[in-house]
Amino acid sequence: MSWKTFPKIELHLHLEGAADPAFIRGLAQEKSVDIGGIFDEEGAYKYSGFGEFLQVYEAATQALQSPEDFQRLTQSVLENLAEHNVVYAETFVSPDFCGGRDLGAWREYLHAMQEAHVEGVTLKGIVTCIRHFGPDKARETALCAAETAGDWVVGFGMGGAEDAGKAGDFAYAFDMAREAGLRLTSHAGEWGGAQSVWDTINDLRIERIGHGVHAIEDPKLVDYLAETGLVLEVNPGSNIALGVYPSLEQHPIAKLRDAGVKVTVSTDDPPFFHTDMTQEFEQLERVFGWGVDDFHALNATALDAAFCDADTKEALA
Ligand code: ADE
Ligand code: ZN
Repeated sequence: MSWKTFPKIELHLHLEGAADPAFIRGLAQEKSVDIGGIFDEEGAYKYSGFGEFLQVYEAATQALQSPEDFQRLTQSVLENLAEHNVVYAETFVSPDFCGGRDLGAWREYLHAMQEAHVEGVTLKGIVTCIRHFGPDKARETALCAAETAGDWVVGFGMGGAEDAGKAGDFAYAFDMAREAGLRLTSHAGEWGGAQSVWDTINDLRIERIGHGVHAIEDPKLVDYLAETGLVLEVNPGSNIALGVYPSLEQHPIAKLRDAGVKVTVSTDDPPFFHTDMTQEFEQLERVFGWGVDDFHALNATALDAAFCDADTKEALA
């Protein structure tokens, strides 16, 4: 069956990572920014491996230079979400790419993003620091998050290169965000092993984990996740495109779920990985035989783990 019209909830979506290459190319031309090397002959993003992916990702953000650019980007992301009947999404937004973590500028960018609107889609923001930019910048990012916590900014997170520094180096930033009332998630167990997931849980005291798939290598960790109900934001298409796993057949999402771990499904950076939420559902049906009941359960887990308030959840239930 086609899953396009089935309602969906997406918890792990990087705003800049959702920028269509044609949109970025157009902006770069408008502003005479030279980022031509990041596209292949067909106009898609061109990279090989995770290191290059991060470089291309950051190069693409150079075309995004003003609050208006981010408003247009958010509008197009909302339209794409609506096309796949994603009724609720949380998006990672990075003050690093929105005025260089200056609080005044950040407020303007944030205001612009919130001007974007598409009927039937609720979008919330998770302010995100970038691990390989280091703990000092993460602290400045957390300050931006703390100062703008509220109805739209509901969480704080961390993405970037998982091998850059120790999780504990970022504890201060996460503590600051927690004290401001923000809900917490961090990428871990995408490139790092089970120990990276343990460190993230223990040192950052997060309640969701971005990816987390390498937890499968440690039965004690799988049990811990199942018992505590910590939620994994799994991105199967991303993992396959970046080579974390060679194929969905070898991906641990079904094993994790069957072991009682709360898994959700998202796209991470859809145009980079040539995916969308409909395709993610289609592939899970094809490989693991997931059907209507499984996807309803997936939605229920995601809605429960969403960082928005109870009223928003009630309206979506
Ligand atoms: N930023 C955008 N996509 C990412 C990913 N898959 N892992 C870590 N950081 C990211
Ligand atoms: Zn991610």
